[in-house]
Amino acid sequence: MRLVIAGVAFLLVMPLSSAAAQGAPAPERTAGDVMKNVQLLKNVPLSEWTPMMQFISGSLGVSCELCHTVGKFESDSKKTKLKAREMITMTRVINDNNFGGKLVVTCNTCHQGSTHPNGTPKTWDKNADELTAYRNEIAAVVDTAKPAAPPPPAVPAASLPTVAEVFAMNRKAIGGVPSSMHVAGTFTSITGSRPFELYTMGADKVLIGSLTQGPRPRQTLNGDHGWVVTAQGKTPLNPAQVAGVRNAASIFQAVRFADAPAHRAVRGVERIGDHSYNVVVDSLDAHQRRLLYFDVQSGLLYKVRNEFATPLGTRVDEILFEDYRTMNGANLAHSITLHYMEDRFEYRVTDLQTNIALDPSTFDPPTHF
Ligand code: HEC
Ligand code: HEC
Repeated sequence: MRLVIAGVAFLLVMPLSSAAAQGAPAPERTAGDVMKNVQLLKNVPLSEWTPMMQFISGSLGVSCELCHTVGKFESDSKKTKLKAREMITMTRVINDNNFGGKLVVTCNTCHQGSTHPNGTPKTWDKNADELTAYRNEIAAVVDTAKPAAPPPPAVPAASLPTVAEVFAMNRKAIGGVPSSMHVAGTFTSITGSRPFELYTMGADKVLIGSLTQGPRPRQTLNGDHGWVVTAQGKTPLNPAQVAGVRNAASIFQAVRFADAPAHRAVRGVERIGDHSYNVVVDSLDAHQRRLLYFDVQSGLLYKVRNEFATPLGTRVDEILFEDYRTMNGANLAHSITLHYMEDRFEYRVTDLQTNIALDPSTFDPPTHF
């Protein structure tokens, strides 16, 4: 889907299918109401459709085109799509017959990123860490011939910081919240690399493109209104596109994700590599949650993980913030990578200025062409 969008409005760098653009009010229309040739998945709410297709793609390690011709998604001309239908039925039967109808076996259980699941195991090649993990696993196996081992002591919740403390530490680590920013660098996707440039002021003023209007179109956002501006004129953005632009800009804004949803909590400390992270969990709705990983030592945001539970399995995407560098008093990530099920975007920042003087009208479209 992203490939389609990219062709229409290439500056919309974040997928419109991301969480913010999705949240649709209930009662919602389903695939059966709207799609042309859905046979098995008629009851799936529309907002879950694209994440579900992304989940399939991620499980097989492919893009939409393995099963579809873009623009003719309803067509059954590809054998792979027909096979996928059989697989959906097969997976349901497995879960119904073995797991009480719960979604336990998914496409990924077998496929693991391949179109041809490998039925033959690898030879033994565990490293030292994997060996330790494996010994722990053996120890944890319930042996009915032995008395039950006492449960491991729980990590005391009191030792965890509060949400407010995690965000305060982050704010300090980045050198305070800039009122405005200019970011420039290179954007890379599977289709290649190109320069990008972005201005923001507060959370709701965004300009993607150049201030000195060149040959490329730009997108501006002022509050709830947005426009694509070209040499020929301006076109208003629809609400989903506005959300897309705001999303794209939010990954550069310094106190990202600080607006707390209703259910936010510090879940615990997780180790990745040789760093420990305070994990903040945002429960967005019954299907979606977002996990924020803040470095315990530095307070900097390392990772954002979005999880979207669909009827076939959970679609995940991750944003990694790396290469923090201090420039003009602001300590911000200079490498941001977005990992999706079927795509990967990378921003390399080469120039970053904060608290620059910008006229708020910069974010309105010009009145004369
Ligand atoms: C492995 C195969 C496979 C992949 C990959 C796949 N799909 Fe599908 N898609 C299907 C199947 C199967 C159906 C029909 C489901 C049914 O009949 O209930 C479908 C149906 C659809 C439809 C409904 C079209 C209509 O009007 O009937 C859309 C839209 C769609 N897919 C979009 C996507 C997008 C976007 C992607 C990539 C993110 C994608 N699909 C990736 C197998 C796939
Ligand atoms: C129980 C294991 C299992 C599960 C679960 C499973 N598959 Fe498969 N799938 C296979 C195997 C095995 C093949 C045959 C691969 C081969 O021919 O080498 C296959 C083949 C396919 C193919 C054909 C690939 C090609 O290029 O020819 C598609 C498409 C596919 N599966 C989609 C799915 C989807 C979508 C799901 C989830 C709804 C799913 N599968 C769940 C085991 C599984």
